[in-house]
Amino acid sequence: MTEHPIRIAPSLLSCDFARIAEELLDVERGGADWHHVDVMDGHFVPNLTIGPPVVQSIHAAAKAPLDVHLMIQEPLRYAPDFVKAGAHVLTFHVELCADDRATRALALGFRAAGVPRVGIALNPDTPVERVAGVLDLVDLVLVMSVFPGFGGQAFMPEVLPKVAWLRQHGYAGHVEMDGGLNPRTLPECARAGADVLVAGSAIYGVPERGPRIRELRAAAEAARAGRTARAPGR
Ligand code: DX5
Ligand code: ZN
Repeated sequence: MTEHPIRIAPSLLSCDFARIAEELLDVERGGADWHHVDVMDGHFVPNLTIGPPVVQSIHAAAKAPLDVHLMIQEPLRYAPDFVKAGAHVLTFHVELCADDRATRALALGFRAAGVPRVGIALNPDTPVERVAGVLDLVDLVLVMSVFPGFGGQAFMPEVLPKVAWLRQHGYAGHVEMDGGLNPRTLPECARAGADVLVAGSAIYGVPERGPRIRELRAAAEAARAGRTARAPGR
């Protein structure tokens, strides 16, 4: 299986919201691959952020694709609005679905709404088996490494086996990790098999974003290379 290239996705949650357009361009100049956009409704998570009109303005200002992470109760209701707003990836949480049938119906509903790439997210305490029945319908699995709601939380290494599980079971789509990624924790994610690496405070929280993005990418690629080099001996 050919691996996807490493993608670094700064999370806008940690940017200066009064200067979003400048912030977007700053990380794009620094080499960001996707912009990670966190949408929260105050119900699924105890925080509120932005909705489709702001995502649309972000899309107009950005050149890089928008990776929109929906932390909302009714993702299907709003999916068409996020498609119109320019979402490239649109991700819903599996915890909203009672069983595999409901999960598949929601993924198919996203497709029917014209979502270009469908993602499914798992909270840290949700077993990876919960997404097993829908892997053929999704382009991306987002393995949360913090409980969603806020930036700047500590990475939870206990979720890493879920990433390895997905790859061991032949999942060839994108595997994304989000929450607490920094130069110390992000190599573990790449080593486990993740290719889309989200970082909020570790990128927007430093003044020099370009060097930080390059540092993160180099660390991820080195971790991958090390894993390949060691693999025959394992
Ligand atoms: C948390 C969000 C994350 C958050 C990550 O609910 O989904 O995208 O912005 O922020 P850091 O990288 O600071 O943990
Ligand atoms: Zn997120």
